[in-house]
Amino acid sequence: MDGRDLVRAVKDIGSERGRRAWRAAWRHRRADAVGLRRGAERARVPGLLTGTEPRPGGGVLRFARSELLVRVTVGGAVFWGWDGAVPTPSYAVVGDGPEPDPRAVLEPDTGGGWRVVSERVTVAVSRHGAVEVRTPGGTVLRREAPPRWWEPVPAALAGEAAVGAGSASGGTHPTANAAGAGAGGLGAGRGPGGRWVQRSEVAADARFFGLGGRAAGPRLREGAYRLWNTDPKGGFGPGVDPLYLTMPVQMVVADAGTHLVFHDNSWDGRVVLREGEEGAGSGADRLGSSELRMEGGPLRCWVLVGTPARVLQGWSGLTGAAAVPPEWALGYQHARWGFGSAAEVRRVVEGYASRGLALSAVHLDIDHYDGHRVFTVDEAAFPDLPGLAGELREQGVRLVSIVDPAVKAGDAVHVSGLAVGAEGAFVRDARGEEVRGEVWPGECAYPDFTDPAVREWWGGLYEERLAQGFAGFWHDMNEPVSFAPFGDATLPRSARHAMDGAGGDHREGHNVYALGMARAGWEGLVRLRPAERPFLFSRSGWAGMQRYGGTWSGDVETSWEGLRASLALVLGLGLCGVPYSGPDVGGFGGSPSPELYVRWLQLGAYLPLFRTHSAIWAGRREPWEFGPEVARQAAEVMAERERLRPYFVTLAHLARRTGAPYVRPLWWGATEDRRLRDCEDAFLLGDALLVAPVLECGADRRAVRLPRGRWYDTATGAAYEGPGQILLDAPQGRIPVLARAGSLLPVRSAGGGGGGVALEAWAPARGRTGGGVVIRDPGPGFEAGSVERYTVRWAGDEVVVETEAGDSVEGVTVRGL
Ligand code: GLC
Repeated sequence: MDGRDLVRAVKDIGSERGRRAWRAAWRHRRADAVGLRRGAERARVPGLLTGTEPRPGGGVLRFARSELLVRVTVGGAVFWGWDGAVPTPSYAVVGDGPEPDPRAVLEPDTGGGWRVVSERVTVAVSRHGAVEVRTPGGTVLRREAPPRWWEPVPAALAGEAAVGAGSASGGTHPTANAAGAGAGGLGAGRGPGGRWVQRSEVAADARFFGLGGRAAGPRLREGAYRLWNTDPKGGFGPGVDPLYLTMPVQMVVADAGTHLVFHDNSWDGRVVLREGEEGAGSGADRLGSSELRMEGGPLRCWVLVGTPARVLQGWSGLTGAAAVPPEWALGYQHARWGFGSAAEVRRVVEGYASRGLALSAVHLDIDHYDGHRVFTVDEAAFPDLPGLAGELREQGVRLVSIVDPAVKAGDAVHVSGLAVGAEGAFVRDARGEEVRGEVWPGECAYPDFTDPAVREWWGGLYEERLAQGFAGFWHDMNEPVSFAPFGDATLPRSARHAMDGAGGDHREGHNVYALGMARAGWEGLVRLRPAERPFLFSRSGWAGMQRYGGTWSGDVETSWEGLRASLALVLGLGLCGVPYSGPDVGGFGGSPSPELYVRWLQLGAYLPLFRTHSAIWAGRREPWEFGPEVARQAAEVMAERERLRPYFVTLAHLARRTGAPYVRPLWWGATEDRRLRDCEDAFLLGDALLVAPVLECGADRRAVRLPRGRWYDTATGAAYEGPGQILLDAPQGRIPVLARAGSLLPVRSAGGGGGGVALEAWAPARGRTGGGVVIRDPGPGFEAGSVERYTVRWAGDEVVVETEAGDSVEGVTVRGL
């Protein structure tokens, strides 16, 4: 307990909830004291290379005290695993993972090492166990030093154990596969356990991105980043880390190339990043470094090399295609904690309708539950929820329900969960007692989403939500949270999890808890409504969560810093393969000034999830609450989002097909432009648009850095040539949005013709051609939609748009002429 904890504790103890939270926190601490005892440890490094054995895609390299499997797969993704770790099973990787590349060969390298050579990448292993990833031309993208493990000393040896970082004690190779092969479930391939550390080096000019949702991004500067999904309590700004959704995924961008590295290990860990420095031609470059320290679990790693687009395509192949939200979830949505009653919901919806503001969905928070209990309804405040849902649906407004994982002890859902399997659905401690925590409804139990039977049971519970008329689901508090006046506000680290048959504790299960909940919800909904793709987004998650839906910022603070953090989160998550996300527009906890509110709305309108949300104690977020001027500005922003909705549909389908996020950093197609790597205040929306939100108080102009090529200011039509920096007007009513010359995008047609979709093209520079793809909404089911490809080119003094077959397309609005 630190000083802050103490202050909080004194405050909390005054309430009944506070007292229960105290008790829960003490219980958790005691459980860990009994369930987790760290005994003597012994350090180990691989030692010297003793032999090799070719295998498909690479081979096994044996060292004195470990072994390393290196495999290049079809498509070029590289895997390596120490101590018998293999690619699957894995919570992130789908199926059996990609096939080994039959053409990759293991051959001797210089200096007594070996290398696996393939068409796209070379992996070189030194005789001490350092691993280098090189481009086919021989440039080193990444060099991992030999790892170091600390592992429990068998009791019989404990007395003589040498402990300490410096003493890589000898001894024989431990039973590398003991905890792995044959264990079944997701434990297979996990290696022998114990803490480990690995340090890697990257180019001096490299920049780091990713690690899940980080408020301080998207460029991750020097510092330590914890891998432990955490509710920061009371909102967050850029200084707060970690947040709800972490993952050991980094995108590294350097002159020599871009790569994504994924350490497939869900344990608690820490990444220490250090950006490099170039010696200004003196040759004394300081390389960038990334050190990963994990509390346990396998040392297995994937590296994907190529352009950002290629890397993310590979990542989506490895961890699964992103769910496509239903079309309506790409429109504007309104949420609030504290709607209070059906009457208030009606009032808000009517407020939007009477002002002609398009509203796609209303989200009901925990206050519509009976006593904050999940899968219940407060019948007094919401007497006929299905009726309300039907009424709103007629106005084109869907209802979305919050779903919290913790189940009130003794509640009907709890009782039904007790009948699941032999031991019930809930997480237990090392002594077999159900773990209880304190959340909104009071004392709660936690479903173990790492158990397939529990996922199936939980998925079935959404039937009640569907019957209430809900069309979408908002998973919350699933880090998971147990309120605590001190210590970690989650389950005890010693709590047991099924880990899909492998068995494990919360140190390993924590980070994949929400991923399992998302899977349970998704699979349940698909079972219940096979003809509809679910709409699901979740506060917490892990690598691969895009298969089941998206995420949102969580409780971002109402401030300009919070606004900036909102963009950082969306960009960073997109680079980790989670394309659908967005912030609480206006911030969660406070009352934004009219200016801050408008600026947030302007940013949010160009992000995939466009939703206002706020705490029960926070100020209102309806646009008309900020005066007529803001209401008018907000109406413009919202109308533009509506106009762009078909473009968002295309981007959603492209994300599923290609792994490319809707929202991309400016360096996406121009990684060679170093200044773009440092540019954190603008982004690309698909291929066509560059959005430069205003993130500073009082600004009415802003500098915009352009990637190469011609760009048109969509407000004035003025053309600018990149690369370079320009200054554009940004009065409170609008933010700079630029269109790439030659681009084509679908927009909503004014008259509603053409299936509601019209095409808009931007003139290419003279002598150049452009184009774009369009995927129309194929309906609410799982159809992929067909890809329409168009080219945009000059024909004499005219710009023409043609289909792939060469037919010219009429009625396209051409701009930038
Ligand atoms: C958490 C969520 C927030 C929600 C609140 C009440 O703080 O992050 O969005 O409104 O819980 O359910």
